[in-house]
Amino acid sequence: MSIIQIVFSPTGGTQKVADIITSEWNEPVRKIDLSDPDTDFSSICLDKEDVAVIAVPSFGGRVPEPAVKRLEEIRGNEALCTAVCVYGNRAYEDTLIELSDAARKSGFRVIAGIAAVAAVAAQAIKKACSQRKEDELFC
Ligand SMILES: Cc1cc2nc3c(=O)[nH]c(=O)nc-3n(C[C@H](O)[C@H](O)[C@H](O)COP(=O)(O)O)c2cc1C
Repeated sequence: MSIIQIVFSPTGGTQKVADIITSEWNEPVRKIDLSDPDTDFSSICLDKEDVAVIAVPSFGGRVPEPAVKRLEEIRGNEALCTAVCVYGNRAYEDTLIELSDAARKSGFRVIAGIAAVAAVAAQAIKKACSQRKEDELFC
C-alpha cells in the first residue's frame, strides 16, 4: 500500500493542504503533479491497496479544466481516495462534486470529501513577490 498525492496547485495553497492531510499517515508519500504538462498521466496506474488524496483548487466554483483532463487519464484501479477542494473563502460550488465524479470515472473509490480554505492566489503571489524583493535586498 502506498500513500499518493494527486495535486493541482499553481500557487501552492492546495499543496499545503494536501501535505497537512497526508502527514497524518507518517508514511512516505508519492506525489503526482497535475500541474505538469510534460507528465504522461495515461501511464500512471495505482494499486487497489493504495490510498490517494486528490486535491485541486476551486476556480470559479469548478475544478480547473487541465486538472480534470489529466486526472481522467490516470487509472485509479479501485484505490481509495479522498477528494479535496481548496478555495479562497468565497464559495466552492460544484468543485467537490465535479472532482469526485472525475475521480470515480478514473476508477477511484471516493470515500471522503474535504473543503478547505487557503489564501487566495493573489495574496500568495503578492507574498511571493515581496519575499523575492526582500531576498534581492539582502543579496
Ligand atoms: C482564476 C481563479 C478563480 C478562483 N475562483 C474561486 C472561487 O470561485 N471561489 C473561491 O472561494 N476561491 C476562488 N479562487 C481562489 C482559489 O481557489 C484559492 O486561492 C486556492 O487556494 C488556490 O490554490 P493554489 O494556491 O493551490 O493555486 C480562485 C482563484 C483563481 C486564481
